[in-house]
Amino acid sequence: MFDNSVRVKHFTFKENDEIKLHEYHAILEEIQMIEILSRVLCALPVSVALMATPAAAQAPAAPAPDSFPAWAYPWVPDFPVPAPTDTPQHLPGSGAAVSWTQARDLFYAPDWHPEDHGPMPDVVKAGRKPDVRACGSCHRAEGTGGPENASLAGLPVAYFTRQIADFKSGARKFSGPQRSPVLLMNASVKTMTDEEVKAAADYYSSLKPKRIIKVVESETVPKNYIARVFFARRAEGGVEPLGKRIVEMPDDVEQFELRDARAQFTAYVPVGSIAKGESLVKTGGAGVTAPCGICHGPDLKGVGAIPGIAGRSPSYIARQLYDFQQGARAGSSSALMAPTVAKLTQDDMIALAAYVSSREP
Ligand code: HEC
Ligand code: HEC
Repeated sequence: MFDNSVRVKHFTFKENDEIKLHEYHAILEEIQMIEILSRVLCALPVSVALMATPAAAQAPAAPAPDSFPAWAYPWVPDFPVPAPTDTPQHLPGSGAAVSWTQARDLFYAPDWHPEDHGPMPDVVKAGRKPDVRACGSCHRAEGTGGPENASLAGLPVAYFTRQIADFKSGARKFSGPQRSPVLLMNASVKTMTDEEVKAAADYYSSLKPKRIIKVVESETVPKNYIARVFFARRAEGGVEPLGKRIVEMPDDVEQFELRDARAQFTAYVPVGSIAKGESLVKTGGAGVTAPCGICHGPDLKGVGAIPGIAGRSPSYIARQLYDFQQGARAGSSSALMAPTVAKLTQDDMIALAAYVSSREP
């Protein structure tokens, strides 16, 4: 093993000290910094400059009564889903044919654009019955995901592997209503073999994340409904007040539900939230949170085993911030996020998600 005290002394974990970014990143490349930082954070009654105040390093604060971001967890379990048919469906820009039966089969990952990615490993393409559903079915062949799950393209292998371990051990759970995608996700990863985890991690991390979400500040949002686990535009048109929430919708519901990885999304966010989010992300908002770039990299594209967050679904980002705050996400590296989220209000989460999602992935 390595001598932590030597490495960690590069940092001055004292109040008001500035962390020197280049040193930080050099160490990060050299060693498994996550482990070390976690231990440092646990061991010392620290208040790192980036952690704002001593109070911030303590256990998550009790949530304010209005803090549950219900808009990030849409769930209408009895939404009537039409019976699938075997008729081959086609989409513009693809020579493939996929039926609704296939698109709804969780052991089948529709592949509309084989030319956009390398060969999918079996676990991504078909899963393994009875429990391991095809990762590509929910996360799409190219890991683009959707508002109801998570994008996986470009996630660091070490991060990916750690998340699966945390899901397996139960350290990473889900807040809010236990919606079917999260329950099925959990059931799918529980019995994955190490080889399957490696194959899925290697595949998804090799894919380049794409910009598929347009973030729009607006007072209003197109009239919408919850199609079981996601928001969708009403066919009759019209608008409704947005209020204090983010509403993220596929531009073409059919293309999205047929699981085309080229599907695009628009996220309506409150006016002013992008600028507020930028300020929180860059400065930490005078102790509200920590500047995200210190760990996620200056452009939020991730560093070492820390995942990129730029350009990802704002619904997903908000759920994670809330899940960390609630302690539902309590995996081995979550200690690093705990002080960052402890004081966030729902408005702060909206602002952070709006800004982070608006960035180039
Ligand atoms: C039924 C749909 C479904 C299937 C199948 C599925 N997932 Fe997921 N996955 C989800 C959902 C939902 C989340 C979490 C979203 C949240 O936390 O809000 C998730 C999250 C993840 C994450 C965390 C991403 C991050 O950025 O931290 C990883 C990694 C992951 N899944 C890997 C897999 C792998 C590997 C498989 C294939 C064995 C798989 N998933 C199959 C729905 C699914
Ligand atoms: C001290 C380092 C640190 C700082 C500062 C930090 N993060 Fe993180 N963040 C992490 C680590 C480490 C993880 C992975 C945690 C895990 O594995 O459970 C993470 C995970 C996340 C995730 C989940 C990503 C995913 O794929 O599921 C989000 C979202 C996130 N951070 C947002 C932010 C935002 C927004 C900020 C700034 C307000 C921020 N983080 C500041 C270290 C940090």
